[in-house]
Amino acid sequence: NRHLISAADLSRDDAVLILDTAEELASVEGRAIRKLPTLRGRTVVNLFYEDSTRTRTSFEAAAKRLSADVINFSAKGSSVAKGESLKDTALTLEAMGADAVVIRHPASGAPRRLTGWISGRVVNAGDGTHEHPTQALLDAFTMRQRLIGAGAGAEADRRGRDLDGLRVTIVGDVLHSRVARSNVLLLSTLGAQVTMVAPPTLMPHAVDTWPCRAGYDLDSELRKSDVVMMLRVQQERMTAAYFPTIREYRRRYGLDTGRMALLPEHAIVMHPGPMNRGVEIAADVADSARSTIVQQVANGVTVRMAVLYLMLGGMADGEEAA
Ligand code: CP
Repeated sequence: NRHLISAADLSRDDAVLILDTAEELASVEGRAIRKLPTLRGRTVVNLFYEDSTRTRTSFEAAAKRLSADVINFSAKGSSVAKGESLKDTALTLEAMGADAVVIRHPASGAPRRLTGWISGRVVNAGDGTHEHPTQALLDAFTMRQRLIGAGAGAEADRRGRDLDGLRVTIVGDVLHSRVARSNVLLLSTLGAQVTMVAPPTLMPHAVDTWPCRAGYDLDSELRKSDVVMMLRVQQERMTAAYFPTIREYRRRYGLDTGRMALLPEHAIVMHPGPMNRGVEIAADVADSARSTIVQQVANGVTVRMAVLYLMLGGMADGEEAA
């Protein structure tokens, strides 16, 4: 694919190729080879109009480990503050030789708009409440690593590696979550059975059209889950009308140790971060052996290396993105 805007852009084969490539890159890294020459001479621009810790730094680390040059652009402190448009900002950065632009933007649809303005590749690093496809890829990679097993044989084991039948419950502020949307699209493509659990005010009406079930009784869903993914309550995107109270939310939808005990023994607990400890997830759950939160961050670098490698690695010197 030229760009990565939505998890829906990925066929099952595309997604498995990215995950398998990430696995190969992880095994190279495991041999303590910290830098590969693959993207020498390429330039990756991180264009961030919204705050980020994990995504921005992991794209930077991923590009650098592939020997690309990296330009980090934050809207804060730039000419965006003087009113410069996204299009003019992107054209300016492209004039500096960007082969790929990794964009985070508060407006849903901004990355797709960008693809019409610049010739380089575009990767969506989170747009409004729309999508965050590389988060879904790193989550799928983590599920495969923890529950399916890394390094299994290629074709013979492909069914399992595609997450077929895996029961994934995504819990919380689904309405505002680009992570939830990308995950449901990608995980269903890979064969998982996804259930969304949310307070009625935080469940999008469109959930009926998504490839998942909607559930409202968290405890009964937990008993039959292989994975529970807790979502951050995005207080910055909501008004009081959406939200019960923190105490009520925690009581009905928070994951504490008592609730975690309802999960089957093998099940894992995920969270994309940043977390509201003590709201959607208790601190001792976040720090427990079942939690994959730190592993998800580490896998983010590897999976983003795979995405950049597959998008830019085949380009010949001097070639514009085809
Ligand atoms: N999960 C995630 O996107 O985190 P950041 O906002 O820190 O990038």
